[in-house]
Amino acid sequence: MKSVAEQNVAELGGVGSVLSRQKRDHVVLDELLERLAQARPDEEDPVLLKVHRLVFPHAYAEETVLWPVIRTVLPDGQALTLQVEAEHQEINELVTRLESLEPGSAERRRVLDRMVDTLRKDVRDEEDELLPRLQTKLTRAQLQRLGLAWEAVRRIAPTRAHPIVSRRPPGNVLSALPLSLLDRWRDRVDARLHRADDDAAPGLRALSSVLARASHAVEQLPGIRSGEDPATRRKRGSVVGWGAAALVTVAAAWTVMLLARRRHRH
Ligand SMILES: [Fe+2]
Ligand SMILES: [Fe+2]
Repeated sequence: MKSVAEQNVAELGGVGSVLSRQKRDHVVLDELLERLAQARPDEEDPVLLKVHRLVFPHAYAEETVLWPVIRTVLPDGQALTLQVEAEHQEINELVTRLESLEPGSAERRRVLDRMVDTLRKDVRDEEDELLPRLQTKLTRAQLQRLGLAWEAVRRIAPTRAHPIVSRRPPGNVLSALPLSLLDRWRDRVDARLHRADDDAAPGLRALSSVLARASHAVEQLPGIRSGEDPATRRKRGSVVGWGAAALVTVAAAWTVMLLARRRHRH
């Protein structure tokens, strides 16, 4: 079985094949991880934002589109996919942990190194084992159709770490829409924060943390963990209900409206 890394585009089933699409993303990830390794502590956040925007939609589309197919066509698909889901879960937990650590601190360095190692291991497991095994079971046309489905989901998927959410359908599918909206909104706020002057920074920082709290509230909604294998389950923090989640989402929308109005007046 030849690794995806050693095959050319024609062998992988053409440019639209799910294998080619996976490989292209993995190459971009490798470049970003190299940039992260070169970055000073105060330069890490913008690179990390790009890593997250690549990695989380990519992994989400794997969990909702690819791994269910692998579980159907391979007799040991359950065990194989559980291993990569565990890696995805660990990456989600490490990135969530990173958010609370000071840039330049020894603990942040340790968590960051672990995150990079786990990302690299995930790529190797997929390119050397999972995807070549999938390749033996599907035709070129099927690989291309799967590529289209994977790409469609990847484009609308959440872009941030969500360790509480199930790594399997239906829980992750249920949470996709609200989390994706909140994540992409927060990505825009954070990208502006990285370029903002000192006057604008506190408002943007506050908005970013309101959006983060809103998505943590969505993670607690009933049904979000359904379909999950116990091996990738993370202990839940405080449990909040639909009411609290709705309240935080409304508060986030309200804050954004106020800030937009203030900007309009100035
Ligand atoms: Fe992948
Ligand atoms: Fe992955």
